[in-house]
Amino acid sequence: MSVHSKSKRVTTQVLREMKHNGEKIAMLTAYDYSMARIVDQSGVDCILVGDSASNVMAGHETTLPITLDQMIYHASAVVRAIQRALVIVDLPFGTYQGNSKEALQSAIRIMKESGAHAVKLEGGREIRESIDRILSAGIPVMGHLGLTPQSIYKFGTYVVRAKEEEEAEQLIEDAKMLEAAGCFAIVLEKIPAKLAGKVSKEVQIPTIGIGAGSGVDGQVLVLHDMLGITQEFSPRFLRRYLDLGDQMLNACRQYVDDVRKVDFPNENEQY
Ligand code: KIV
Repeated sequence: MSVHSKSKRVTTQVLREMKHNGEKIAMLTAYDYSMARIVDQSGVDCILVGDSASNVMAGHETTLPITLDQMIYHASAVVRAIQRALVIVDLPFGTYQGNSKEALQSAIRIMKESGAHAVKLEGGREIRESIDRILSAGIPVMGHLGLTPQSIYKFGTYVVRAKEEEEAEQLIEDAKMLEAAGCFAIVLEKIPAKLAGKVSKEVQIPTIGIGAGSGVDGQVLVLHDMLGITQEFSPRFLRRYLDLGDQMLNACRQYVDDVRKVDFPNENEQY
C-alpha cells in the first residue's frame, strides 16, 4: 500500500516517506473554504495558502501588497475546509525579512490564528536567522528557491532563474542549507529541469516544483491558473485542466438573459 493512500492525515513525516518511497507529492493552492473543500477531496497531499492570493483573489499585480492579517483570513477559511491535506501558509512580504524576531511573531500568528500546519518563506542564506528562529519554536518551515516573486523588483522580470552556473551553484548550496537548518521541504520555482533534478537528488527532503520539470519530488500549481479562471497568464509550465473562466462567463450570461426574459424563476422555482 502506498504511503499516500494509507495516510488519513498528511504530515511532514508522510511527505518525507513519500519521497523515500518514490511517490510523487501533489500540491495545489487554495484561499477560501469552498474551493479548499473540493481541493482536499481530490486527494492532494498539501494545500498552499500562497501569497498568490494577492494576485488571484485581490487583483494586485504582484504578491507584495498582501498583509499578514489578510493571509490569516484566507488560511483560517482553508483550514476549516480540510480533512486530510497539510496546510502551508506563505509568510507575506515584509513580515520576516531582516528581523528574525518579527519573523517568529508572524509565524506564530499564522499558526495560532489560522490553525495551519506550516509556513513557507522565500529565500536562502539571507533569511537563515528567521528560519532558525521559527524552527526553534517548533513550527515546520517550507523553503522556496529559484524565482521568488516577493523579490520581483530585484529580478526585474519573471524569466527562468539559475540558468547561469554561478546562480545554479548558489541555489544548490541554499537548498542544502535549508535542509541542514531543518526545513521539511523546498519549493523550486521556474528553474531549469536539469538543475531541479540535481537538487532533488542532493537533498533528502522533498522538493516541490512549479516550472521545474519532472525530476522533482512533487508539483504545485496555482488553482485559479490550472482551472482556467485566470486567462491572461499562460507560461509554458502551466497545464490548464479546465476552462472554468469561460464556463463561468457563459453561465452568468445565461442567467442575465433568463432574468431579462423573465424565464427565471419559473413555476417550480418559486413558493
Ligand atoms: O504563492 C504561491 O502560490 C506560491 C506558489 C506559486 C508556489 O508560492
